[in-house]
Amino acid sequence: MSNPASPPAVDVLDERPGLTFPPGFLWGAATAAYQIEGAAAEDGRAPSIWDTFSHTEGRVVAGHTGDVACDHYHRLGEDVALMAELGLKSYRFSVSWSRVQPAGSGAVNPQGLDFYRRLVDELLANGIEPWLTLYHWDLPQPLEDAGGWPARDTAARFADYTTVMADALGDRVRYWTTLNEPWCSAFLGYGSGVHAPGRTNGADAVRAGHHLMLGHGLAVQALRAARPTAEVGVTVNLYPVDPASDTPADRDAARRIDGLANRFFLDPLLRGSYPEDLVADLSTVTDFDHVRDGDLATISTPLDLVGVNYYSRHVVAAPVEGVPADPAPSCWPGSEDVRFVSRGVPVTDMGWEIDAPGLTETLRRVHGYTELPLYVTENGSAFVDSVVDGQVDDVDRLAYFDAHLRAAHEAIDAGVPLRGYFAWSLMDNFEWAWGYTKRFGMIHVDYDSQVRTPKSSAKWYASVIRRNGLAAQ
Ligand code: FCB
Repeated sequence: MSNPASPPAVDVLDERPGLTFPPGFLWGAATAAYQIEGAAAEDGRAPSIWDTFSHTEGRVVAGHTGDVACDHYHRLGEDVALMAELGLKSYRFSVSWSRVQPAGSGAVNPQGLDFYRRLVDELLANGIEPWLTLYHWDLPQPLEDAGGWPARDTAARFADYTTVMADALGDRVRYWTTLNEPWCSAFLGYGSGVHAPGRTNGADAVRAGHHLMLGHGLAVQALRAARPTAEVGVTVNLYPVDPASDTPADRDAARRIDGLANRFFLDPLLRGSYPEDLVADLSTVTDFDHVRDGDLATISTPLDLVGVNYYSRHVVAAPVEGVPADPAPSCWPGSEDVRFVSRGVPVTDMGWEIDAPGLTETLRRVHGYTELPLYVTENGSAFVDSVVDGQVDDVDRLAYFDAHLRAAHEAIDAGVPLRGYFAWSLMDNFEWAWGYTKRFGMIHVDYDSQVRTPKSSAKWYASVIRRNGLAAQ
């Protein structure tokens, strides 16, 4: 019998059904090496491009660096225990190439490998499936000094490093992703220069994008050779790109940005070709003479899964006549004059528009390319959190997750073989050029004391994992 004095269980103004995900759905959380590990100069680790970049004045907000970060290198046991409390089925982490192969090639650092062996063993002991990303943006500095990703040789070095990791951990790690978000590595790292290594040359960005994908293809082959049973994929960050209006000029602006943001990667990786319109758009930037016979076949080496990182949507409009393009270095080479339009919808602390339906749209689009199983390998939001009486009630983040999980479920209903979801992020961490000023974690980190405090979203996510779905609201 219901108690007439108690509030209704369901708010009729916001009545959303409970949802159950398919059996075996892989619920996880993600992090990346440079964002959490710290111990930057310990046990034989050498600098990566992110060490150099963050130590260069003016590159990262407030001069923050990843030297200490969340000190995860020394708190591995405590952190895995927190994951176990959350009930995570899987944990997606990345390996610091500079820890394992400090020069980026040649000698392997056994202490570096040991750290990842301990991490993987600890995860397995807690029933958590390790999901290993080989490259989350932290190229060993000596490889950048030798030309970085715009240089073809870097792809071969990446394949060698992949073999080292497959030999060391392939018996215990089933899920592997080669690259995380090659768009960011290429276009933020070498185009706009807001990420490491901070170079600003459109042609270099395009070359970097190609060699990242070539490295990916070679790495897939290296993994297959070393570990035939591994589940291998790549993670791309995708955005729906909408025209601000239905005019041909705005639609053309959307086509161009969609080419650079999405099809630059999806088409070579999943179809073995660059889109013709994209090559034409980039003709003022590069003649693609870096692409050699056989590259696209390597790049499109068959995969076992595709990882999708989703955060927001882009809305764009045609250049305004008479208004010159912003001369600042750009992550949209050849399309610098396209305008990004804000719709005035709610945004996160990154200023990114919140657009859950865009996740459904993105997953359906990728499914249009491939029948492969898909995973959301990152999705999440930064908000300003406050600790009150030792608690962080991050309702905005929780609502973001809830809305995006509903959107993910809608994709499943529409026939998308979505097999898992990784929240970004397990804990607050070094948010690249924003340093520690943006918090994405489900677990709050006090950077002075390194105390971890699960936020409301963490407790809520634990209940989602327990019931394999969402409660009615
Ligand atoms: C993604 C990155 C991840 C994190 C989130 C917020 O682009 O892969 O490391 O910074 O954005």
